[in-house]
Amino acid sequence: MYKLHFILATIVELMAKKTLSVFIILYFLPHLYALRLTDPFTKYSQLNLPPGPVGPDSVALNPSNKGPYVGVSDGRILKYNGREFEDFAWISPNRSKALCDGVRNLTMGRTCGRTLGFSFDPQTGDLYVVGAYGGFYRVGPKGGLAKKIASGVNNVPFKFLNGIDFDPYRRVVYFTDTSSKYNFTDVLMGNPLSSKDSTGRLIEYDTRTGKLRVLLDKLHLPTGPAASGDGRYVMYGSFGTHQIFKYYFKGEPQKVLDLPGYPLKIKRSPESGLFWVPVNVVVRQKPLLIHSFGYKFNSTGGVILAKSFAAQYSGVQVNIVQEYRSNLGRRRLYVGSINVAFVGVYES
Ligand SMILES: *[C@@H]1O[C@H](CO)[C@@H](O)[C@H](O)[C@H]1NC(C)=O
Ligand SMILES: *[C@@H]1O[C@H](CO)[C@@H](O)[C@H](O)[C@H]1NC(C)=O
Ligand SMILES: *[C@@H]1O[C@H](CO)[C@@H](O)[C@H](O)[C@H]1NC(C)=O
Ligand SMILES: *[C@@H]1O[C@H](CO)[C@@H](O)[C@H](O)[C@H]1NC(C)=O
Repeated sequence: MYKLHFILATIVELMAKKTLSVFIILYFLPHLYALRLTDPFTKYSQLNLPPGPVGPDSVALNPSNKGPYVGVSDGRILKYNGREFEDFAWISPNRSKALCDGVRNLTMGRTCGRTLGFSFDPQTGDLYVVGAYGGFYRVGPKGGLAKKIASGVNNVPFKFLNGIDFDPYRRVVYFTDTSSKYNFTDVLMGNPLSSKDSTGRLIEYDTRTGKLRVLLDKLHLPTGPAASGDGRYVMYGSFGTHQIFKYYFKGEPQKVLDLPGYPLKIKRSPESGLFWVPVNVVVRQKPLLIHSFGYKFNSTGGVILAKSFAAQYSGVQVNIVQEYRSNLGRRRLYVGSINVAFVGVYES
């Protein structure tokens, strides 16, 4: 199964380079067809952002399955109320709606704030939030200005926080500081030095004691962690090396999976022991063209499904894939991307 997905990604890459003949594509078609049959998320719809901001990089439902909540380019966390998106929260005390609403570029990042990840405490409904340019925050279920919990740990300031997960079993929060040297703008704008960086950290915050702890350091651009859900381990991605690791809170982290592209935030599936990760295969460097997938995988690296998002996310990256079950047992995927102005919803 995994080989097939790899082949698929390679085909896309070759097609873009126009080196693949029609015959070879026809040869592979039955495999692609078989792949489609295993994908239950066939119905697509989308929730458009209000005019202005772009880039819902993080997407989550609250503990009562309301939302989704999304973090967007102008620094707001928006909540979908069933009809439209409304303001929910923000992290910068200096943010003004007049100055910031609708901002798409990065120049206003410090004033307007930008969140690249959040995760709900299922018991209290509090939302834990990480800022793209540093800062770790919490905001209550009613929203508003988030309260800053910390700006750094072990005397090293947070530089580029990009993913977070609340561990319901241990009641701690895990988050990744992608680099201690390079910020979000550097990596997004493709600063070539940033790709070799290995100053990333995996950090834990204990909600009962309020203590922060560095679990792992010297990581190679780590991306959004996910708790196992049973308190045994935490998964994280290694952006630069296209790998996924799990860490049992002692010893060396174990490699779980090698991927054909860049992994971003990992999220737990409602099915125990299963996870989703967006995988972005670079098809062409200039202009940057990406084929994005969502990989559903298990704790030992078995790939259950590799879903292509190319039809709806043509040429751009996907940052998050969150699976939820509705109260009626319906399966639903919420997909977020920094490059678009909507949230994709795939249903079974
Ligand atoms: C960034 O966006 C703001 C507001 O939309 C605008 O005033 C500013 O000129 C933009 N900066 C750049 C470099 O595009
Ligand atoms: C907010 O504004 C104050 C006063 O202008 C400034 O000192 C502070 O650095 C600003 N904070 C941020 C996060 O931009
Ligand atoms: C990101 O880092 C670059 C230098 O590497 C700096 O010029 C830029 O101001 C930083 N951006 C923010 C928002 O801190
Ligand atoms: C993960 O998936 C692989 C391939 O389907 C399977 O062989 C393996 O037993 C699974 N691991 C777990 C822990 O379920």
